Amino acid sequence: MIKELLNKLFGNKEVSTAMTETEVTNHKENNAMTSYTIFGRGNMATAIAGILTKGGATVEHIGSADSATATVNGDVIILAVPYPAIESIIANHKDAFAGKTVIDITNPLNFETFDSLVVPVGSSATAEIQAQLPQSRVLKAFNTNFASTLSTGRVGDLSTTVLVAGDDADAKNALITDVNAGGVDALDAGSLKRAHELEAVGFLQLTLAGSEKISWTGGFGLVK
Ligand SMILES: NC(=O)c1ccc[n+]([C@@H]2O[C@H](COP(=O)([O-])OP(=O)(O)OC[C@H]3O[C@@H](n4cnc5c(N)ncnc54)[C@H](OP(=O)(O)O)[C@@H]3O)[C@@H](O)[C@H]2O)c1
Repeated sequence: MIKELLNKLFGNKEVSTAMTETEVTNHKENNAMTSYTIFGRGNMATAIAGILTKGGATVEHIGSADSATATVNGDVIILAVPYPAIESIIANHKDAFAGKTVIDITNPLNFETFDSLVVPVGSSATAEIQAQLPQSRVLKAFNTNFASTLSTGRVGDLSTTVLVAGDDADAKNALITDVNAGGVDALDAGSLKRAHELEAVGFLQLTLAGSEKISWTGGFGLVK
């Protein structure tokens, strides 16, 4: 019964792991390369772009200076900016995002108190963004990984795993495939509702690092 329910939620897929070199070569040769537009040029934007380009995707960045006027060329958009910046990005680019996958990586903390999230209780940044972009497929991803663990592919002795949540299975699988092709594990963490839990994990991890109980190269790892 529980297995049936889980299969319904996730499909029968096993955990996706990073591809072998041959699989990466096949991925690059056989698939039309995904093109990504990443808003932001900071730590996360750089680390994520490194993974995606290693896997054969093309990546363009839009920084804050050109954010209002830039043309969005990518098939997939990644919002690698502070959560408060997303409101103006959506205001400027909502039409360009229609029909596309939009990936939210934010941890929407109240950085004044470091004691709560700024999204409504029970909701998530991702759910708020999906509500504003009903014609886009919005995913949560990367928010439980510190930037350095994405660059190195390691959290301590473990491989880094990117957790992905969202309601569109094809969009999730496409991202997981591109992350795997870049040498990093990725896992379907469930529906858009799970973004709430992913943000709780990201919140806790941030408070642990902010209070110097763990390092910014550490964080939560996943044992499969
Ligand atoms: N750092 C981590 O380890 C980590 C882990 C998980 C999740 N996250 C999340 O990832 C996001 C980015 O964090 P980060 O550490 O990469 O921050 P960061 O290094 O400070 O970079 C933020 C980037 O956002 C840009 N930006 C701000 N407003 C923008 C706009 N309207 N349009 C386009 N770009 C804009 C900034 O450009 P300017 O410099 O020109 O202002 C900067 O390039 C945050 O939401 C954070 O919660 C971070």
